[in-house]
Amino acid sequence: AKKAVLGPLVGAVDQGTSSTRFLVFNSKTAELLSHHQVEIKQEFPREGWVEQDPKEILQSVYECIEKTCEKLGQLNIDISNIKAIGVSNQRETTVVWDKLTGEPLYNAVVWLDLRTQSTVESLSKRIPGNNNFVKSKTGLPLSTYFSAVKLRWLLDNVRKVQKAVEEDRALFGTIDSWLIWSLTGGVSGGVHCTDVTNASRTMLFNIHSLEWDKELCEFFGIPMKILPNVRSSSEIYGLMKISHSPKAGALEGVPISGCLGDQSAALVGQMCFQDGQAKNTYGTGCFLLCNTGRKCVFSEHGLLTTVAYKLGRDKPVYYALEGSVAIAGAVIRWLRDNLGIIKSSEEIEKLAKEVGTSYGCYFVPAFSGLYAPYWEPSARGIICGLTQFTNKCHIAFAALEAVCFQTREILDAMNRDCGIPLSHLQVDGGMTNNKILMQLQADILYIPVVKPSMPETTALGAAMAAGAAEGVGVWSLEPEDLSAVTMERFEPQINAEESEIRYSTWKKAVMKSMGWVT
Ligand code: G3P
Repeated sequence: AKKAVLGPLVGAVDQGTSSTRFLVFNSKTAELLSHHQVEIKQEFPREGWVEQDPKEILQSVYECIEKTCEKLGQLNIDISNIKAIGVSNQRETTVVWDKLTGEPLYNAVVWLDLRTQSTVESLSKRIPGNNNFVKSKTGLPLSTYFSAVKLRWLLDNVRKVQKAVEEDRALFGTIDSWLIWSLTGGVSGGVHCTDVTNASRTMLFNIHSLEWDKELCEFFGIPMKILPNVRSSSEIYGLMKISHSPKAGALEGVPISGCLGDQSAALVGQMCFQDGQAKNTYGTGCFLLCNTGRKCVFSEHGLLTTVAYKLGRDKPVYYALEGSVAIAGAVIRWLRDNLGIIKSSEEIEKLAKEVGTSYGCYFVPAFSGLYAPYWEPSARGIICGLTQFTNKCHIAFAALEAVCFQTREILDAMNRDCGIPLSHLQVDGGMTNNKILMQLQADILYIPVVKPSMPETTALGAAMAAGAAEGVGVWSLEPEDLSAVTMERFEPQINAEESEIRYSTWKKAVMKSMGWVT
């Protein structure tokens, strides 16, 4: 059959905590042409520990590329039209590997992992100068969430890592670095780099000078020689070199030219380029980012300051305020895998719909402590307000409501920090396909919730950055490019008083979740 003629195409790897996807977009219309998704295992070797296998992650990328290319073939779309590839990834998750063998030296320590709690406590007692030392340089509170302490743990506890560092064979990276190094050739010349958005989540990166910070590296005891080169979010890092993977090898030689942490990628994909524009992405966690333009704004209400993007080597850096919620989609996966009350994630909508209320049941999924705005590592999950009447449908409903209440908390913090309340919330991510969730979110925030019909904005952002890179130039970042995107809007349907009552009961439940571990 004759192959269809199309404009240049751009591929995007979206490596999230729960799954990996590869998606291919038409650069002229931003239309999603084909994609494939693979779920990723999570291991919990001890209470509070969360690990993933870096090789499984890499294999899942190959598999997604292969399957997507196959699907494009079935659509008569010529794969050689793919002109660039972008990478977006779960942030902070820490990998150390051997540059001579290409082997990871330990599992990836996932962002949700709590094993470094005691490291954080002892470090916080010896912060030099004033308590603001880490925050003023990085925009981040000293927390188990970020890479520096995970890397410290690996250096302290894994003999193979220590030995490889001594012998100059160790490379550190977040998932973007691990993937780009592997996809550009690995042991035979892989490029060891990261972008400013991912670097800004390590607690080792100075967000003002945009460089690894010597004082921070000394404080955390991190040898600077194992850190990747920091690049902008949109430039050619290297070319795909994966001929060993026969089907994915079809993309051999294509430049990898976009790299953003997934939340920054979603900000770009939602076209939030103006000061004050914000988006909330519902993935494993939930992350509300508000573009603050070229200024670093520091929060008074528990939000992070982070690098939003830098779309080109000579382009300016933009910053964002971020409200981070650790557990969103993860609570649905927990109901599926740990309690078994649903067989698939989609089933939650059906259960919640059956009852349409939690019947006074509140579920605080503080599995990894509480992130913004509390930053309370001592919190643990609770389900409260149970009666003999409560059934699994009410619990399912309460789990969805929990995602919405947590978003309300970070939105309130954002409004306080920014001074101008958001008039509506732009949302995206897998969970936004759940209509009950979206309606609940509008009810609990008491502002409209607006969702693009194509919710894969994270991948879109990475594709845009890759397609717009110097030397690729197939994507223009002018906002009118996406003017055709259709939006779905959810308006609040309950009265404001009811919304407030539910929210204040939630806050009571949150208070009860705190102080479970000391
Ligand atoms: O900071 C962690 C975040 O990047 C993970 O995103 O989509 O896997 O929840 P997600």
